[in-house]
Amino acid sequence: MKKIQLGAAPVQVCQMPLGAMWFGTTISPKQAFLLTDLYRSCGGDFLDTANNYSYWAGPQYAGGESERVLGDYIQTRRCRGDVFVATKMGFPKGGGKGAGLSAQTIRENIEISLRNLQTDYVDLLYMHCDDLTVAMQESFGTFDQLVREGKVRYIGVSNFMSYRLADALTLTSQNGWAVPCALQSRFSYYLPQDGRRMGNQRMLTPEHLHQCQAKNVLPVGYSVLLSGAYAMARGELPAGYQTQRNLARQAALYDLAAQKGVLPGQLVLAWALEKGVSPLISSSDASRLRENMEAADIVLSSQEMELLDRAGALA
Ligand SMILES: NC(=O)c1ccc[n+]([C@@H]2O[C@H](COP(=O)([O-])OP(=O)(O)OC[C@H]3O[C@@H](n4cnc5c(N)ncnc54)[C@H](OP(=O)(O)O)[C@@H]3O)[C@@H](O)[C@H]2O)c1
Repeated sequence: MKKIQLGAAPVQVCQMPLGAMWFGTTISPKQAFLLTDLYRSCGGDFLDTANNYSYWAGPQYAGGESERVLGDYIQTRRCRGDVFVATKMGFPKGGGKGAGLSAQTIRENIEISLRNLQTDYVDLLYMHCDDLTVAMQESFGTFDQLVREGKVRYIGVSNFMSYRLADALTLTSQNGWAVPCALQSRFSYYLPQDGRRMGNQRMLTPEHLHQCQAKNVLPVGYSVLLSGAYAMARGELPAGYQTQRNLARQAALYDLAAQKGVLPGQLVLAWALEKGVSPLISSSDASRLRENMEAADIVLSSQEMELLDRAGALA
C-alpha cells in the first residue's frame, strides 16, 4: 500500500485506512491487535475510529469501545508516532449521549476521545455528520481552536452534503481556520436502489468527487465492500441493491475479476483507488484483510475503468 497526500494537509497517509468500527465489540481486543499488527506490517498507518463505535453492537455497549482498544494498542505497541489516528464526533453514542456539534459538546467529546485513545492529540478529527442546528461558525470555530491548542492536527467531515462542504471550505479559509482536508462518506460499485433508506449516511456522489478534486479534499469511502456483498454468487445482490443495473455491474465486475485473476471485492477496492477515493478496509479475519490490502497492487487500464463505469449505464 502506498502513501498519499491527505488533501490540503501537509502530511502523507496510507491510501487505505483501517476501519476499527468493530474493535472491542464484535472483534475482540486480541483479534483487533492481530489485525492492526498485520495492517501495519503491510505499510498501513491510517487508523479510523469514532467516539460512538459501536454502541449498537449490543445493550452492554455505550460507544467508545473501539477508541479504547486502539488506545490500548497504541500504548502496548508504543507506536503513537508511527500511526495516524482519525476519530469522529457528532453522532449520538449509546442512550443518545454526546450528539451534535455545539462548542460545549465538541469540548466534552474531545476530552473523552483523548482519554479513550490514551493520547494528547488526534491526528484527524472528523465531524461524523453535519449538525444543521448549530451555526457553522460555532462548530468549525471550535474545531479550529482544538487545532490551535494542539489537541487535533487536521480536521475532516463525514456524511456532508456538497453545498455544506462548499460553505465549510469557504468559511474556514476566509477566517484562516483549519480547513477540512478529508470527506468521508459511503461509496461502492453497486448503486443503491431508489428510495433505499440510509439514515444519516450519505453517498460520495460524482458531484462530491468533483468537488474534492477541485478543492483538494481527500475523499474517503466507507462500506465499500457492502458487508461482503461482492463475495455473493452471480445473480445475488444485497438488500437495497437489487436492480437490473447492479446485475449488469455485477456481470462486468465478475467477468473482469476472473480475467485478471483477482476477487471481485479486490477489484472494487482497486476501482475506488483509481477514482481517487481512499477505501476504508476492514475485516474480522486476517486473510480477508490481507486480500483487501493486496487490492492496492491491481493495475486497471483506462479501458477497464470505462468498462466498469459504463456497465449498467442507461445510455
Ligand atoms: N463515517 C461513517 O459514517 C461510517 C459509517 C460506516 C463505517 N465507517 C468506517 O468504515 C469502516 C468500514 O465500514 P464497513 O464495515 O461498513 O465496511 P465494509 O466495506 O462493508 O467492510 C466490512 C465487511 O466486509 C466483509 N469483508 C471484508 N473483507 C472481505 C473479503 N475480503 N471478502 C469477503 N468479505 C469481506 C466483512 O466481513 P468479515 O469481518 O467476515 O470479513 C465485513 O462484513 C468502519 O470500520 C468505519 O471505520 C464510517
